[in-house]
Amino acid sequence: MFHENTEDMTIVYPGSFDPVTLGHIDITRRAAEFAHRLVVAVLDNPHKEPMFSVAERVSFLQDSLADVSNVEIDSFSGLLADYVVKKGADAVLRGLRCADDFGNEFPYAVCNKAISGGRVETIFLPASPEFVHVSSSIVREVANFGVVSDFVPPVVRVAIEKRFLILTDSVDS
Ligand code: PNS
Repeated sequence: MFHENTEDMTIVYPGSFDPVTLGHIDITRRAAEFAHRLVVAVLDNPHKEPMFSVAERVSFLQDSLADVSNVEIDSFSGLLADYVVKKGADAVLRGLRCADDFGNEFPYAVCNKAISGGRVETIFLPASPEFVHVSSSIVREVANFGVVSDFVPPVVRVAIEKRFLILTDSVDS
């Protein structure tokens, strides 16, 4: 159940953010307009080999969202529903780029509500049109071929360039 006064609403925006994209940043900034407090939570998943460590992913988010006063960056492991309850939050936020995203997200929304005894709701925000094609997996895939996409914040561009020792025009000039 949400707080009666929605001005008190705390929302958790979870994800792998490996790496954070401009699409994630857009969703975060838009949600920060209506959330009282917005926690962007990076999943620490021991079963996956990430491109960037949790500490790096947290630091990219902190750098990209430093100007938004009601946004906090955190990391978590284990069940999302447990983390949301522990944080005293009301809801999970997920972005949707297409109908497939909804199909994937819907069971998780139902599951998170069920395993939290009805406490954890999910709010979906549609991606802005300019970001419907943007995903972390595409960023990682093209990075493996030495391409730094325009889909990520500047701090991530620099990190990918360093990681793959890519010499861009801006470095050359
Ligand atoms: O950015 P992603 O990879 O799409 O984010 C997926 C995430 C972190 C939201 C999801 O994997 C998650 O919540 N993981 C924690 C484990 C969990 O609670 N799973 C759902 C059970 S209903």
